[in-house]
Amino acid sequence: MINWLSSKWHRPERGWDPVDPVWAKEYAEAEWQMVDIALLDQLEEKLGGLSGKRVLDMGAGAGQYSVALAQRGAEVTWHDISLTYQDIAKEKSEAAGVKLHWSLGYLEETQGLDLASFDFIFNRICWYYCQNDKVFARKLWSLLKPGGLLYIHAPNSQFHRDGMSTSAQLRTWLNAQTGFKIGHPMLPPRRIPSLFETLPVSKLEADYCDARNDVVWLWK
Ligand SMILES: C[S@@+](CC[C@H](N)C(=O)[O-])C[C@H]1O[C@@H](n2cnc3c(N)ncnc32)[C@H](O)[C@@H]1O
Repeated sequence: MINWLSSKWHRPERGWDPVDPVWAKEYAEAEWQMVDIALLDQLEEKLGGLSGKRVLDMGAGAGQYSVALAQRGAEVTWHDISLTYQDIAKEKSEAAGVKLHWSLGYLEETQGLDLASFDFIFNRICWYYCQNDKVFARKLWSLLKPGGLLYIHAPNSQFHRDGMSTSAQLRTWLNAQTGFKIGHPMLPPRRIPSLFETLPVSKLEADYCDARNDVVWLWK
């Protein structure tokens, strides 16, 4: 509720951007050097190829994966709240000679995207910014085509365990116990599958090898 109210006031299309431009430039430079080719190969294999596939990069940031997926033949939509990242991603996609579709807004603001239209949704390191975990899970599901694949990489509440302020600990605890969110608490480890339990998931694969990062693949 608090995050929802804040989202009505802070509008990206009016120039509001939660991302500090200096940080965005640093993050973009680092992330563009670290694109995980093995992950791209893995998802291409799971999808049976990327050529012609409709892909949504949800919370796409500097666009390094949007561009990489487009370079492998996918038709990619970049969606994010940050104009600063959009500018960076536009520059990078032009330099790479690929065309992306652009969608600026909160994670939940997908009105401009067609329902059941994506073969693949890529959600990397931004789940915690959604306003309500279950509502966001349903929203992502509604955008997937039948048979489509959703990839989620979400750092969990162990990620900042040692450096968390008391207030962040409280908000994380509240979210873990009740699902209520104030700010952007990270999910408890292994919570993601339960967010989809009422949805028609045909197959789920989870990788919990790294105790601080949950990686989950879900097929519709
Ligand atoms: C850690 S970055 C990850 C970006 C990208 N997925 C990647 O793998 O590099 C988090 C991203 O979430 C975006 N973001 C933060 N709050 C958001 C919100 N409420 N709605 C949509 N995007 C948001 C930021 O602009 C940023 O691009």
